[in-house]
Amino acid sequence: MARTQFLSKPQTLAVDKFGTASERAQRELASGLLQKPARISPKYFYDSLGSKLFEAICLLDEYYPTRVEQSLYVTHAAAIAGAAGPGRVLIDIGAGNCAKAELLFAALQPKQYVPIDISAAFLRNTVERLQAAYPAISMLPVGLDFTEGLNVPAHVNMRHRLLFYPGSSIGNFTPLQAAKFLSGVHRECGADGALLIGVDLIKDTQILEAAYNDALGITAAFNLNVLAHTNALLDSDFVISDWSHVAFFNVEQACIEMHLQARRPVLVQWPGGERKFTQGERIHTENSYKYTQRGFVELLESCGFGGIACWTDEAQQFLVCYARAV
Ligand code: AVJ
Repeated sequence: MARTQFLSKPQTLAVDKFGTASERAQRELASGLLQKPARISPKYFYDSLGSKLFEAICLLDEYYPTRVEQSLYVTHAAAIAGAAGPGRVLIDIGAGNCAKAELLFAALQPKQYVPIDISAAFLRNTVERLQAAYPAISMLPVGLDFTEGLNVPAHVNMRHRLLFYPGSSIGNFTPLQAAKFLSGVHRECGADGALLIGVDLIKDTQILEAAYNDALGITAAFNLNVLAHTNALLDSDFVISDWSHVAFFNVEQACIEMHLQARRPVLVQWPGGERKFTQGERIHTENSYKYTQRGFVELLESCGFGGIACWTDEAQQFLVCYARAV
């Protein structure tokens, strides 16, 4: 029991000169809605329902990234563990349901597991179950929004860190933002740290677009749920049925774009603001950039990483890289 530590929520509880976390979220949401085109950050997908909808996406036939990435961890667990060595502090960035890290526990034998996720309540539930299944690993879940840069809580040991950033979540950043974020990750690695990261590869447009337009409509529900979460945070009056899900591959940018498109003229109001949308007007909700193996390795190198080992599946759908902070 002594080993179980409760989730700390630095961002949610902190009050600084910029106000409470919920005041900051309200300002960010309102200013995004007033932009042309309007935008909502993809981090707002992840309320408790959104995290569950994302788990459902990961089970879809069309959504190959999770399946392929997990098979890479299963197949190459020994090689990854060989590179990292046992007794690491495993810091999982955007841990979600922690399923990918769990695939590595047996081979990697981390001494501590520090999952970080913006969806704090969802993470707390997950880790309660996980800690019971792995009593030998000390678990320290952290509810944190890291989109503006990763700050691992100071009481986490600086030595022997392995930062884990699975799921191609790096794709939510533009390549320029990704470089900035990974440089911050490099700082958090310390002197003897390393990074294990999963990234989705550029491939056939049809395969990519199917992964974000599944036949069951789970991705559509996931995208639309951001409006329900926005209503809860901003006290806005979005009507979900006024909007439809749009996702397509932007070939020039090598990125999946997700939008919500107004099915009719819409007026959205919230305390202190409003926005009119014409029929067909969109709110941009997500970018999901895809990489080539070569382009991603170069990105890692430009951020101070070296000694990079890469694993891909036979169809070259997904890439996992192990990189030392040099
Ligand atoms: C969690 C950002 C990696 O971009 O594929 C899945 C999120 N959005 N379906 C992705 C997502 C729509 C996902 N990431």
